[in-house]
Amino acid sequence: MRRIAWLTDPHLSYVPPQASSEFLESLNGLPVDAIFLGGDISEASRLLLDLSELSARVHKPVYFVLGSHDYYRSSIASVRFQTAQLCARMPNLTWLNQAGVVELTTQTALVGHDGWGDGLQGSVEEAVPMNDELQIEELTSFDRHTLFAKLNELGREAANHLHRSLSAAVENYPNICLLTHVPPFREACWFEGAIASDGILARAVCAAAGAVIEQVMKGHPERQLTVLCGHTHSPGFAQVLPNVQVWTGAAQYGQPRVQRLFWVP
Ligand SMILES: [Fe+2]
Ligand SMILES: [Fe+2]
Repeated sequence: MRRIAWLTDPHLSYVPPQASSEFLESLNGLPVDAIFLGGDISEASRLLLDLSELSARVHKPVYFVLGSHDYYRSSIASVRFQTAQLCARMPNLTWLNQAGVVELTTQTALVGHDGWGDGLQGSVEEAVPMNDELQIEELTSFDRHTLFAKLNELGREAANHLHRSLSAAVENYPNICLLTHVPPFREACWFEGAIASDGILARAVCAAAGAVIEQVMKGHPERQLTVLCGHTHSPGFAQVLPNVQVWTGAAQYGQPRVQRLFWVP
């Protein structure tokens, strides 16, 4: 058994430096063996500093994914390159986009990917505008068609990664945790206590990832999958299949928090 702390959407760029340091320090004091960090950690201008401080203060393995805010004021290509370089120097940090199957115990594995709202749920016509297309270089476009083609591609990339890693994990582990930023299912896209509207669903569900998860887990009903996601800042739980449950985390700007402590067998 190992004990895990899961947090998501801490948005450290909204937190004064002293409070941010205290929060990161508090993670080190948690009675856990590892930390899962589900994206929207900070913003690109501070992300590397925040991840470095996290690595220095928390003397445990930290498994993380990135959210769209982590790319703000920069580009996806640049943030990904720098994050990979940083993780190569910080052995307790693992960015799950770069990992395959992480063994937590002999019974439980972890897989994950950032994910991206890919426009395959809800309504593209009603899709809400987001700061992503103002703040992230690759998404800067006034043409809706071009924007959604790119979002679609980002979603497919997440799905391909999860297909490889989840398919490998179900071969060897009865329990699997999947950490991602964007809810992969409509049923897990909570917004203020209910399932989000069609306009939000188009931006806040990584449906390509959900399709892959469903396909793999339907083929392995004897395996159990727990998905941990965030992004909408509204908490909720969904039993998507008999063997797939999804927790969506709560968040408030300026008030980072731990979502849950739990044991994995
Ligand atoms: Fe967020
Ligand atoms: Fe987000």
